[in-house]
Amino acid sequence: MKRIFLLSGENLDMAQAEIQALCPEKPKSFKRVDNVVICDTDFMFPRLALTKKVYDFLFEATSKNLNEKMKKFDWNEIYDKNFSLKITNAGSIKFYEKEATLAKHIWNQVHEPRVDLKFAQTKIEIILTEKKIFVGKLIYETITNFRMRRSHLRPAPHPTSIHPKLARACINLTGLPRGKILCDPFCGSGGILLEAGLMRFKTVGFDIDDGLLELAEKNLDAFKAKGFRLEKHDSTKLPEDVDYVTTDLPYGRSSKITKKLKLLYTDFLKSLEQNLKYKAVIIFPDFIDHKPLIAKTNFKIEKEFSWYIHKSLTRNIVLLSKK
Ligand SMILES: C[S@@+](CC[C@H](N)C(=O)[O-])C[C@H]1O[C@@H](n2cnc3c(N)ncnc32)[C@H](O)[C@@H]1O
Repeated sequence: MKRIFLLSGENLDMAQAEIQALCPEKPKSFKRVDNVVICDTDFMFPRLALTKKVYDFLFEATSKNLNEKMKKFDWNEIYDKNFSLKITNAGSIKFYEKEATLAKHIWNQVHEPRVDLKFAQTKIEIILTEKKIFVGKLIYETITNFRMRRSHLRPAPHPTSIHPKLARACINLTGLPRGKILCDPFCGSGGILLEAGLMRFKTVGFDIDDGLLELAEKNLDAFKAKGFRLEKHDSTKLPEDVDYVTTDLPYGRSSKITKKLKLLYTDFLKSLEQNLKYKAVIIFPDFIDHKPLIAKTNFKIEKEFSWYIHKSLTRNIVLLSKK
């Protein structure tokens, strides 16, 4: 089934890659127009971090032929009980049609038309982008409240924990399928493990610091995450094979630490090469050039994104698989 994905806008390339990673097979069709992806697929949409809404694709139009296409479309095919029509401006597009005028095309055609602006069964949206207009029936709207799970609001807060939305997107970029385990070898207070746990994946977390492992346990318990295992290990020597990895590497800022960090990352990557079964998403700080470190391994960079945090930190998000 062809769907429309309305991306949430923090990082469009990464949002697109998240959808692609979660498609169970290569979609027959795939295109991105501004902040909208059109793709033939089906999966558990609530997993998505960087998509706001998902629709069944009905048709595409231009501002010139929209009325004509609205009139011609067979609304009875997709109509259920009652409807609403909303214009979603996905850019800052000038558009002069009124919702009520466009809704008349549906009203005039369906057998027992009824409007319910709040709780309609058939929610039709006209999605405006710079290049095209897409018309879809809303099937999923994100309700995951990432803001409420930000580190400082958890029972065991820690300043190094990444934003839950970013954590979830990075897990999804690995494509982590049902039945496989997610490992965070530098798990800290458990932010990444928590998102994986909330998506009902089993997780394994390692950290060198007992105190951090205790914080992680508190956080995971508080959110009732099930099926996690936390162990104290030095992840430059991973103790076992791991299916999928998502991790935010430790970092400091002084030059002495930078030298040490390069060594730590190199040793970790070497150990990961021996133990990774499928894919890994590693988050590097931008002040360390990760490319030469990865070049020394048997990993290939499948995809790479940067995520701006503040003027002195951008995170480089790197998807690795074996060559
Ligand atoms: C950036 S933090 C991870 C934050 C984590 N994602 C969270 O949500 O809290 C990095 C973590 O790596 C741990 N660490 C540093 N060196 C390590 C090593 N050699 N092996 C395992 N963990 C290590 C630190 O104790 C720290 O908790």
